[in-house]
Formats: sequence, structure tokens, C-alpha cells
Amino acid sequence: MEKKKILFVCLGNICRSPAAEGIMKSLIESRGLNDKFVIDSAGTGRWHIGQLPDKRMRIHASRRGITLDHKCRQVTSSDFEYFDMIIGMDSMNIEDLRDMASSPEELAKIHSMGEFLDIASRYDHIPDPYYEGAEGFELVLDLLENGCSNLLKQIS
Ligand code: 4NP
Repeated sequence: MEKKKILFVCLGNICRSPAAEGIMKSLIESRGLNDKFVIDSAGTGRWHIGQLPDKRMRIHASRRGITLDHKCRQVTSSDFEYFDMIIGMDSMNIEDLRDMASSPEELAKIHSMGEFLDIASRYDHIPDPYYEGAEGFELVLDLLENGCSNLLKQIS
């Protein structure tokens, strides 16, 4: 069976999307589904290319048993061909991704992480934690654990 390929996208690719990548990989591994998925992340911006995720996000994720070792990269037009789902974290990410898509098929691959959050979370997007304190990073991880778990249920 063909692997399902999922790309998580945020602005900087050092906080939200590498955390989503790490959480999704951990859920997939714990369910023994490693050979069924390709999971990656990228940013719409280019400021942090080549860098590890933000140290604050790495610390908060490691407390939940998740190691983040992604190296920041920017979204490319070939990502729209290769991946089956491209999941943005907020409305700005979605707008930027829509501008990059070059066909209706590519547009249809774009989703918002907000689609996969429980209504009870009271969020329809993943808020940018970059200028926030520790609680901002914890909130992002809580939301991503909820969204990734619902996403995995939906697609497997
Ligand atoms: P992210 O957070 O989009 O979740 O990776 C940000 C990281 C860096 C910047 C903005 C947001 N920045 O402006 O450098």
C-alpha cells in the first residue's frame, strides 16, 4: 500500500510545525504504523533555515517524551506534488500555502490543523507561541496532541 504523506506547515518551522511532526511521528510509532506514513514539516518563512526547533519548544516537548530533531526548511513547490496533505497551523499559513498551489488538485491538499481540533478546545487554529511564555508552548502542545490524534483516527 502507498504511504500517506503529510506535511505540517507554520511560519518559522521552529515551533508549531516541527512539534506537530514530532507528535504525529510519536503517535504513529506507538501504534506500529511507521511503514504507512511519511511525516515532515516546513515553514513559509526562511529566517531559520537549517536550525533545530526553538529551544523552548524542544524543552517543553521533551517533558512529554518527544524529541524534536527536525532541521528547519522552507516549503517548496515540489512539496505540493509529493505530499498528500499539507496542514497549516493558522489562517496566515493557509493563505500563503494557497498562493503557492498551482492547480485545483494542489489546493485540495491544503488543510488547517483547526479542522482536527475538538470543539471543546475552543480553538480553530494553533496560535503562534514565539512571543509567548511557557504557557503558550504548553497550549500549542496540548492542541497539537488533540489535533494529531484526531487526524490519525480520520486517515487510518
Ligand atoms: P512557528 O513560530 O511559526 O510556530 O515556527 C515562529 C517562529 C519564528 C518566527 C515567527 C514564528 N519569527 O518571526 O522568526
